[in-house]
Amino acid sequence: VEKSSRFRSFIASQQAVGNGMLEQIFSLATNYKEKKRGTCLQSKRVAMIFYEPSTRTRFSFEAAVANLGGTFSSSENAGEFSSAAKGEKLIHSIRVMSAYADAIVLRHTDNDAAKIARNYLESFNIAVPIINAGCGKGQHPTQSLQDWFTIREEFGRTNDLRIAMCGDIKRGRTVRSLAYLLGREPGVHFDLVSAPQLMMEPDILAYFARHNISHTIHRSLDDVIEKVDVVYMTRTQKERPDGTPEISKQDAEACRLTVARVERMQAHARVMHPMPIVDEIEEAVDRMPQAIYFRQSDNGVPVRMALFDLLLGST
Ligand code: CP
Repeated sequence: VEKSSRFRSFIASQQAVGNGMLEQIFSLATNYKEKKRGTCLQSKRVAMIFYEPSTRTRFSFEAAVANLGGTFSSSENAGEFSSAAKGEKLIHSIRVMSAYADAIVLRHTDNDAAKIARNYLESFNIAVPIINAGCGKGQHPTQSLQDWFTIREEFGRTNDLRIAMCGDIKRGRTVRSLAYLLGREPGVHFDLVSAPQLMMEPDILAYFARHNISHTIHRSLDDVIEKVDVVYMTRTQKERPDGTPEISKQDAEACRLTVARVERMQAHARVMHPMPIVDEIEEAVDRMPQAIYFRQSDNGVPVRMALFDLLLGST
């Protein structure tokens, strides 16, 4: 993602680990949070191609482009409203769009869609960046940047933290991206809380094992609620039927964040959620001081402005 690099796509959160990118994002996003506007996308156009529904990601990307003086073309249901409906392959659509835009923001149902799109453009020596806006059950790396930024803002650090990831952590791409991003920070411990059939996939657990990333597995928030610094909640991804058996009412209740459970958290501890929230958090939690998920979603705009600045700012 270095500005000097010809190909500056952002496909996976690991790209931001160990190379100073996070510090640059933090500094730029903090600045944009204060200033609100910038000029680095003046005379630039960004294509937003979304094959899956979105509220936060698409609108915050659009706001980020507009705030930086750029323009965008946006397809909110590309499977229906683009030539994908006539059978066009994603790679051909991407190649065509690369001539109309200076960057392409892609949300897709397939885990590897952003990588495939990036590789296809590179095979034509086309340097238009692809930004992964959430692909299948794979990754949502820009969400993890805003999660990382929010944790850094709240705690003043992203190391030495105990983080519970709770709910459907099997199919949730946000927790996968965040696990890669935070896992290499010293002193981070993950409490993975879910029904057994919704536990993290073996590839992430193998990553944890490979890098000695501290983690424990639980079935109920009650095991950890008093011990953690962050409770990162996720909803059940019902739109991704993959044969996973329904969880029992008892398991759902064990992973539900109620007011009573929040009251048991440490005073400094915080509740995060990438949203949308369905029924895994009791609504009254929204106004408790521990709940920072609206601040987390607000941070989507300055963090995406920072990413555009990093990827396109000096070209
Ligand atoms: N967090 C997130 O990706 O939300 P949307 O699906 O609304 O974009």
